[in-house]
Amino acid sequence: MSHDDFPTDHPAVVTCGLPYANGDLHIGHLRTYVGGDVYARALERLGQETAFVSGSDMHGTPVAVNADQAGVSPEAFALDWHEQYAETFPKFNVAFDNYGHTHDETNTEITQGLVRDLEDAGHVYEKAIMVAYDPVDDQFLPDRYVEGTCPYCGAHARGDECDEGCQRHLEPGEVEDPVSTITGNPAEYRERTHKFFEVSAFSEYLSGFLDRLEGTSNARNQPREWIEQGLQDWCITRDMDWGIEYPEGPSGDGSTDLVLYVWVDAPIEYISSTKQYTERVGTDAFDWESAWLEDASDDHPGGEIVHVIGRDIIQHHTIFWPAMLEATGHAEPRAVMASGFVTLGGKGFSTSRDRAVWADEYLDEGFHPDPLRYYLATNGGFQQDVDFSWEKFRDRVNTELVGTVGNFLYRSLLFAHRNYADAPIADATSAEVAARIDEAIADVETAVNDYSVRALGDAVADLARFGNEYIQHNEPWNLVDDDPDEAAQVIHDCVALAKAIAVLFEPIAPGKCERLWDQLGEDGSVHETTVAVAREDPAGALSEPTELFEKIDDDRVEALNAKLETRVAAAESETTDAETTDDADDDTDMTDVPPLSDDRISFEAFQELDMRVGRIEAAEAIDGADDLLKLRVDLGAETRTIVAGLKGLHDVEALPETRVVVLANMEPTELFGVESNGMVLAAGEDADLLTTHADAEPGTRIR
Ligand code: MSP
Ligand code: ZN
Repeated sequence: MSHDDFPTDHPAVVTCGLPYANGDLHIGHLRTYVGGDVYARALERLGQETAFVSGSDMHGTPVAVNADQAGVSPEAFALDWHEQYAETFPKFNVAFDNYGHTHDETNTEITQGLVRDLEDAGHVYEKAIMVAYDPVDDQFLPDRYVEGTCPYCGAHARGDECDEGCQRHLEPGEVEDPVSTITGNPAEYRERTHKFFEVSAFSEYLSGFLDRLEGTSNARNQPREWIEQGLQDWCITRDMDWGIEYPEGPSGDGSTDLVLYVWVDAPIEYISSTKQYTERVGTDAFDWESAWLEDASDDHPGGEIVHVIGRDIIQHHTIFWPAMLEATGHAEPRAVMASGFVTLGGKGFSTSRDRAVWADEYLDEGFHPDPLRYYLATNGGFQQDVDFSWEKFRDRVNTELVGTVGNFLYRSLLFAHRNYADAPIADATSAEVAARIDEAIADVETAVNDYSVRALGDAVADLARFGNEYIQHNEPWNLVDDDPDEAAQVIHDCVALAKAIAVLFEPIAPGKCERLWDQLGEDGSVHETTVAVAREDPAGALSEPTELFEKIDDDRVEALNAKLETRVAAAESETTDAETTDDADDDTDMTDVPPLSDDRISFEAFQELDMRVGRIEAAEAIDGADDLLKLRVDLGAETRTIVAGLKGLHDVEALPETRVVVLANMEPTELFGVESNGMVLAAGEDADLLTTHADAEPGTRIR
């Protein structure tokens, strides 16, 4: 890997978090796949050699539990979903170079080999632990077969993940008050011997890795806290039949009744899928080994690995996975792009409760995939959680895709076709427009190097906006008779802008841009071009344009909304019973919310509040005070002592480095002999701290 700007001389691998092969895909999942696809296409447009891979996640309890419920074998169940996903992704123009699955031979072989390497390197040991067991049913209850209470935050948690609370990965035996999700029986803990991967030995490596890691800032900040709190070793085996068997053989010890934990073989599919790609296209086209294997020599440092995931699986991709790669001589990931969640009415999607907008449903409505791609890529920053609504979807489509991009393309190409169909129209693009196209190319390059899919979309929307102003300002329709040369120049410029849009917008709207490419009379496929082509003169043999994007009318939105609301209401009324085995379930129940105040204040009154971003430097208890902590908070211009009622509600040691929101001009007060100079803002009884979404600097004013 390098940290050079893209494109580099090393092969890149862009991966997407593997979908569990256990249910329909919804548009929340699509944020990962569209994000990855947009990013991989953009890298290719820059001329970066790129493999874009993923596969279905076949193993683990998410699949086994659902297969049990469906009364079929996990293998048949998972394969069915796998086939469906392999068909669905292309319908959204998500074009993996290889889409495999974790149960295939390639992945089984590579996984077992990698685990043997871990053992050989001395990083695996055996330990007897207490695991959940259903005494009535006489079976062990790994991961999602059990639920209970998170020992860290007290939220309701699944066996292996605190998905409704602090998002931590939970080790076997950690969940408190365990209950079987299958039978509802209270579980007991029994002793079993399992295999452990010594993740704790990699703390120092991982700290350095996080300092080097590129991508979104959430993928660095959250794991840093986990490392500071001390890493635990990781149980990599499970008492189950379904999964990849723990390897036997020369260096494996042959314990055959255990399978590997699903999170061992799942990320390894990134490697396996790349290998399958190479097997199909040949090493000259893409060499999986030079991408994944690390070589100490400078000329072979491994590829540019970019993982695109949702924020719920940051820990797996920034702690466990890089430790496994480091321990076995693989390349280090260069970047992790972790997206925020897509929510509905502020709550998580729920597969089991049908609280979702389904991927198929979107297509069945007759929508083209590209508008959804644009919406998912550009609605909010990648790290931000976004609440889906058909209104917002309509607004983005109507205002930007139809109003700005589509409008520019249609009016200029229609005019050009009517007047100059057989161009080349003028000799060359004007200096002004050529410079503007160069600027857009630079914006795209910056967006790729900033890992910002939103900026990719914005770069093109801005270029189209420029195009609209340009045509409006120059009014070629008034020049045709009086100054045909000047008219030809303006139109040539507009067609050149349209061509640049086709090239630069392809990552986001690949289907529509191929059509535009045809309308422009260009040869081949726009997918085969690089950004430099955006600078080339247009071919000019225009065919009659049609409008690229369709407006979504209000009646349509109303109908879609009504349908969604009925569905969400039905989901709400269902109880949260034991069958919630889906991916991203409800976060919190919004009950007992006090009514919003009718007492309005002026903007001036609001401006009197001097609210700033602060960074907690130190936190300590105060003698004699039950609830209070003394904080030292960096506010940029100065460091303040602030007393806050956080004791018992937050882990004191985890507070340093946390960003907080501070009311800086609160009058000072003395509490238990400590002068508090400002107020830290927090929500609710649990003093949930207000923090910043990205990396705003201490002292930044909040408006
Ligand atoms: N199988 C694991 C990933 C293994 S990667 C080695 C998994 N599967 S999943 O089906 O639950 O999720 C697949 C992808 O979709 C993940 O990247 C996940 O973060 C993402 N999302 C699932 N629901 C989502 C939303 N509601 N919003 C945004 N992304 C979401 O996790
Ligand atoms: Zn928790």
